[in-house]
Parts: sequence; structure tokens; C-alpha cells
Amino acid sequence: MKVGVLVSRVRVEEKLLFKELDKRGVDYDRLDDRKLIFELGQNHLSHYDVIVERCINHSRALYALKILEDWGIPTVNRYQTAEVCGNKILTSAALSRDGVAQPRVKIAFTPESAIEAMEEMGYPVVLKPGVGSWGRLLSKINDREAAETVLEHKQLLGTYHHSIFYIQEYVEKPGRDIRAFVVGDETIAAIYRQSPHWITNTARGGSASVCEITPELNEICVQAARAVGGGVVAIDVFEDPERGLLINEVNYTMEYRNSIEPTGVDIPAKIVDYVLATAKGEAPE
Ligand SMILES: Nc1ncnc2c1ncn2[C@@H]1O[C@H](COP(=O)(O)OP(=O)(O)OP(=O)(O)O)[C@@H](O)[C@H]1O
Ligand SMILES: [Mg+2]
Repeated sequence: MKVGVLVSRVRVEEKLLFKELDKRGVDYDRLDDRKLIFELGQNHLSHYDVIVERCINHSRALYALKILEDWGIPTVNRYQTAEVCGNKILTSAALSRDGVAQPRVKIAFTPESAIEAMEEMGYPVVLKPGVGSWGRLLSKINDREAAETVLEHKQLLGTYHHSIFYIQEYVEKPGRDIRAFVVGDETIAAIYRQSPHWITNTARGGSASVCEITPELNEICVQAARAVGGGVVAIDVFEDPERGLLINEVNYTMEYRNSIEPTGVDIPAKIVDYVLATAKGEAPE
């Protein structure tokens, strides 16, 4: 059994995976995406039974996973999961297609139609870049004037990607949201992220505490994971006072360092179990 771990900078998450692989005596290589060269037409990585993608950059992850998939090398995650999760529009479309509950979402392609969409939805709304993470460039827009200003800034200062408008209903969360981790067909751990700020990411100062995995939470998270292609994913869930659990988004190269201690779940061990099962063709869908 030979495992490849595709990395950029080695973060805490990657170190924990290496530690777990070492502990089990698994033979693995660290593949550095800054040095790796893919020679198309030659599968020069065929000696790996599975490759775990842990790149920081979404484009590197996508292209590497596509080439590996074409070469027939099993990967965690799959190309499809990375493609869908890396893009909030594709994620929401997949959730909608599969009937998984989420906040209302509208997509518009011009500032004029974006304003119209926001007005119809009713303020506040949240405008997000289709591709992005760590809560960057999210705008909570409380009225038409703010909407006009943000759209003007995007038009004049933004790149092409900022002219695709992902508009989401603002959900009145109870000062927290849920981050749940799905590995294969099971929700293995979940935390609440509490914050006085509407953006609750732990990377932005939100604090983590354990969240009980109810059958309801497990079910919606597993459905969401399936909708985006499955694998090892981290899911943001909102608790809506009326509608119950709503899926905000699904992340595919997840950070999990802040969730081990509060939950007591050995997340890297669960990931390695899944990786080894994938290599053997035995991973649960
Ligand atoms: N529609 C919304 N209503 C209420 N809160 C929201 C909404 N959208 C986002 N948030 C808050 O902002 C946080 C970040 O949003 P989101 O996860 O969509 O962005 P992100 O940049 O992809 O973050 P990451 O990928 O790091 O999780 C959410 O965890 C939530 O706390
Ligand atoms: Mg998020």
C-alpha cells in the first residue's frame, strides 16, 4: 500500500495526517504541488494506490485531481467533489437538484439584474464571490444603497469573477452556526461556531464547542455530501427558527484542527480509515 499526499505548505491538518499514517506504518510520500510536474500522456504516479489532495489553492487541486482521475488513480477527494465544492454556485445548484434544504439563492450576471434579485428577495441579503473562502469578501447588504455601492465597487475594482453574483438570503442564526464533518456515509463530528459577528468562521475569531450529532443533522449532512460528490467534507449548517436545518455550503479540503479537541473525535484517524478504504476500493459512498 502506497499513499501520496498532495500538499502546498504543510499546515497543522497535514501534519496530523502524516502522524496518523506514521502511526499505522503506512508507506506514504509527500507530493509538493510547487514542484510537481504532470507529464500528460504518461501516468508517472501509477505506483500510488491512492492520493490525498491537501492543496491550499483551489485551481491546483482541481487540475491535479482531474489528471489523476484520468490516469485512474483513486483520490480523496474526487475531482467532481472538488469542482462542485470549490464553487458556491455549483454547490447550491447540486443541493437544489437533490432537494437538500438551503437558504434561498439567486444567481445574476449583471449589476442591474443583481439589484433586481436583491430587491425581490428582501434585505438583508448576503452577496458572495462564487469562489472563495475564509469568509473573505462576503457582504451582508442591508438596503438598496449599500447594494448599489457594493455592486459599483465590484464592477469598477473587481475581476470578471466578481460580475457573477451569488445572492443568498440572510439567515437569522442564533449567534452561531454548525460545522459538521462527513466522512463517507457518516457525520463523524460537529461543532457549534459561536460569534458576536455574523461571520462565525473560527478563522475569523468564532469559538468552537461540541455539537451533538442528532439523526436529523446526520441525515441532512450526509445528503449534502452526496449531492456534491461525497468523500471527506466539512459542511456549514444554519439553524433556522422556522425551517430547521439549512445547508450553507460544503468545503472539500477541510480544515479541522479546531474541532478535534471540543468533539474528542480523532478526525485524522477517520480520514485515514477512509483513505485506506478508498485505495482498496472499499470506501462507503
Ligand atoms: N446567508 C447567510 N446568513 C447568515 N450568515 C451567513 C450567511 N452566509 C454566510 N454567513 C456567515 O458567514 C460565514 C462564512 O460564510 P461562507 O461559509 O459562505 O463563506 P466562506 O468564505 O466560504 O467560508 P469558509 O469556506 O471558510 O467556510 C458562515 O459560516 C456564517 O457564519
Ligand atoms: Mg464556510
